[in-house]
Amino acid sequence: MTQQTGLEALSSESRRFEPPADLAAKANVSADAYEQAAADRLAFWAEQAGRLEWATPWTEIVDWQPPYAKWFVGGTLNVAVNCLDRHVAAGNGERVALHWVGEPDGDTRDLTYAELLRQVSMTANALTELGVQAGDRVCIYLPMVPEAVISMLACARIGAAHSVVFGGFSAQALVDRITDAGAKVVITADGGYRRGSASALKPAVDEALERCPDVTAVLVVKRTRQDVAWAEGRDHWWADLVDRQPESHSAQAFDAEQPLFLLYTSGTTGKPKGILHTSGGYLTQCAWTHWAVFDLKPESDVYWCTADVGWVTGHSYLVYGPLANGVTQVMYEGTPDAGGRDRWWSIVEQYKVSILYTAPTAIRTFMKWGEDLPGGRDLSSLRILGSVGEPINPEAWMWYRRVIGGDRCPVVDTWWQTETGAMMVSPLPGVTSCKPGSAMGPLPGISVDVVDGEGRSVGETGGGFLTLDEPWPAMLRGIWNDDSRYRDTYWSRFPGRYFAGDGAKWDDEHVLWLLGRVDDVMNISGHRISTTEVESALVSHPKVAEAAVVGASDETTGQAIVAFVTVKGTVDDLESGGDEFAQELRAHVAKEIGPIAKPRQIVISPELPKTRSGKIMRRLLVDIAERRELGDVTTLADPAVVQAIDDTMGAAAAKG
Ligand code: WT7
Repeated sequence: MTQQTGLEALSSESRRFEPPADLAAKANVSADAYEQAAADRLAFWAEQAGRLEWATPWTEIVDWQPPYAKWFVGGTLNVAVNCLDRHVAAGNGERVALHWVGEPDGDTRDLTYAELLRQVSMTANALTELGVQAGDRVCIYLPMVPEAVISMLACARIGAAHSVVFGGFSAQALVDRITDAGAKVVITADGGYRRGSASALKPAVDEALERCPDVTAVLVVKRTRQDVAWAEGRDHWWADLVDRQPESHSAQAFDAEQPLFLLYTSGTTGKPKGILHTSGGYLTQCAWTHWAVFDLKPESDVYWCTADVGWVTGHSYLVYGPLANGVTQVMYEGTPDAGGRDRWWSIVEQYKVSILYTAPTAIRTFMKWGEDLPGGRDLSSLRILGSVGEPINPEAWMWYRRVIGGDRCPVVDTWWQTETGAMMVSPLPGVTSCKPGSAMGPLPGISVDVVDGEGRSVGETGGGFLTLDEPWPAMLRGIWNDDSRYRDTYWSRFPGRYFAGDGAKWDDEHVLWLLGRVDDVMNISGHRISTTEVESALVSHPKVAEAAVVGASDETTGQAIVAFVTVKGTVDDLESGGDEFAQELRAHVAKEIGPIAKPRQIVISPELPKTRSGKIMRRLLVDIAERRELGDVTTLADPAVVQAIDDTMGAAAAKG
């Protein structure tokens, strides 16, 4: 994270930015919402659920048998109908749903709500032809193309749960996720455009499916026109199968608790968790928070969320929230520097984007690239800026507001997780006077409590662990195939409360500051990766004896992965030199998990620092990785080990 001076940190805790008066006057949500929700939380959520179209009304708002919740019991709805059909029926079929912008310049597609409905209907029919039924799981492994959104909604339409796997994950990661979910159909593409060139996706699916015998069909989008291997009978081109389907599909309503999707995320063990989300409560909270936190005016706003659909932000705030609200949005395929480092700002200018939702890591990258790039574009259409994924340092918050927001746009820092499904902690742009770097406080209808190590509430001021002490509509319903892990991970550390894994503190004005993970989960550019997962990948290499992985502070990505490795035999035995071996290990991790998990640095050391009881001293490794003053090493079995590692790092740093 960018170093702050003490002065900045101090001033950010006391400095406030008031909501713009014109925005506050016309805001969707006023301060009353907090009072209303505090008076009757369940009635508040029932009112928000009423913003959706239900086929059958619910009979009970929540059935809470801790830690299991059912929301809007007895209600039925179709999620895709709520995202498409009802907007068309309301006369908004010609409104653009997606302004899709491909990475290669000039490669664009606009899809209206009516057109999106037509394509989703055809895809729903295609999936049905492939034998997909309500309750089945479909794996989606696609680049950022409209077919990703279409596929997700088509699954929702027929009551099948999707499991989207980010395109940056490897064949092995696909095998794990397909197998755990029991998916029988995979939707992929020949490849996608990334950093100026075409990269392949289908080969990873082909490799994965050698180990997934239950997958019966693969639907393939043609995006890059590169050659692909073809399994006759199993593989179908999208254009062949989808385009010949009937253009309408009559959607059935499903129970409010019908599984909508699984999304795999890293935990503190090596195996990713399949987070299960269902329909009615999830859509209620996604739609309401998107409308309230961005003060959304669907008739006039152009919204842009820069997240990939492979992550939860893409699910909740690119697909379900915005489409449920019927807004026009931008969807961009590529990287921020494709076609020039001002690509994003040219998109904002061209499409007159009014709401931008992105991650601190992107903002810090733009800070490095300089003010001239956004300064050279007309960004006056912007009115609200959102941040998500990791703590935003006050300096980045201020830069975002001043340089991108022209000092007039409120910045809303939104805290939530894959597990929470939707935003939980955030300011409201027409209500809250914001402190730079703070997510301020829980949204109406959400209850958070900061507790100490014994689970006692710290009260109005003070630091500790962030917990949620009341159920919320979009909460995860469990971990797929692993109920005991669900109970252990979230509900056992502080009985009766959901433990988020984050540290937090209330300042002396009872404003909430998120302090990052307190477990072995790293946050790299807003992406969650577990230390154990990377360690398992490293030790699966035949030459690695032991590995310890830590997240070290990084100016741009928030944290960066640093791995300490010992080898079988001695370092001198390595055929290749240490540097080459480190490269080999990096490639090995990319193969096991995906390029996103490649360590920034691999330190090959003679031993790992351990306590006398044999526990690896991670805290110390973080210090070493960040090249800080070393802490107390007296509990080390062998203090010389630390010196040896530190020397290796010093030598590496000197080499540059
Ligand atoms: C973890 C969840 C929320 C969607 C993207 C990440 C961190 C997220 C913030 C924020 C401070 C944040 C937390 C959380 N995080 N947003 N505004 N301020 N930290 O979803 O991969 O499930 O990761 O991201 O540590 O636990 P995820």
